[in-house]
Amino acid sequence: MDLCAGRILRTHCGRQQDSQIEAFTGYRVAISITSNPNTPGIGLRLAHLAEMVATRPAAGWLEVHPENFLANPHAAELLTEVSLHYPISLHTVGISVGSANGIDHLHLKRVRGLADRLKPIFVSGHLAWSTYGNEYLNDLLPLPYNEESLQLVSTHISYVQDTLGQPYLIENPSSYVGFRSSTMKETDFLSEIVRRTGCQLLCDVSNVVVSAHNMVYDAYQYIDNFPADAIREIHLGGYTPEKDEATPGAELLIDTHAAAIADPSWDLYAYALRRFGPKPTLIEWDNEIPPLATLLDEAAHAGEIAQAIDASAEANRVAAR
Ligand SMILES: [Fe+2]
Repeated sequence: MDLCAGRILRTHCGRQQDSQIEAFTGYRVAISITSNPNTPGIGLRLAHLAEMVATRPAAGWLEVHPENFLANPHAAELLTEVSLHYPISLHTVGISVGSANGIDHLHLKRVRGLADRLKPIFVSGHLAWSTYGNEYLNDLLPLPYNEESLQLVSTHISYVQDTLGQPYLIENPSSYVGFRSSTMKETDFLSEIVRRTGCQLLCDVSNVVVSAHNMVYDAYQYIDNFPADAIREIHLGGYTPEKDEATPGAELLIDTHAAAIADPSWDLYAYALRRFGPKPTLIEWDNEIPPLATLLDEAAHAGEIAQAIDASAEANRVAAR
């Protein structure tokens, strides 16, 4: 291991450094990392970008929001450096497959440009809408699940995949409301978009915990019904309980990504792995972001759960021989 002290953020003439990219003043570590998408990864946010470049801690893979890099050349340059050492996944937040007025082609082309440079292992987005006309809303808003929305979403997903030139992973949303116009269950809707478009799926286990609590259904049954063959990735993120203003004494779970993974998510994750088999797993933390080491600890815990399940599955196979 070769250690040398120093800042790693370089200054560039004419470039404004992003104030969200925290300068890292620790030790630069030059080691070769063996990264592996089957080892849990972490969501890489701007706050940890410089530290990641400098220290290159062991992590299976990294996922970023491409929108944070499209208009930020300094961050994009650091990300390119990171991508030399870790598999990268792009998790889009601005491609709105549920918008009635179509996909922003220019935005999609920019994401394609970043993907061409980074060669991501996955490109994913949400079963939601977040644009209206030229307005970008800072939220992932829900859809009714019926034939009309199925046609709309399927057309948009096919268009996204054609433009990106690779499969697009669709993530199950965290839900707070339902629609009277829905005619099918969310898991059936996901199965049908997979059948119509050939897209793949990202199962956010914590979103299942949040939605099952808020919408009053069985999270384990949801996992049982989830179209397992299409899953390429699992997310785990923290949520925050809040008082439900509409129902005195009741509590809503809000998908804040601002806390450690809660026990119900870990328990459901273990159940999901038993049903789905091993899947690339990612820790998401977007608000009140902790030290990088905390995220890596959460990823390590996910890896311990996966290994324990793998070991017990192997023991069962041996016993059955
Ligand atoms: Fe997620």
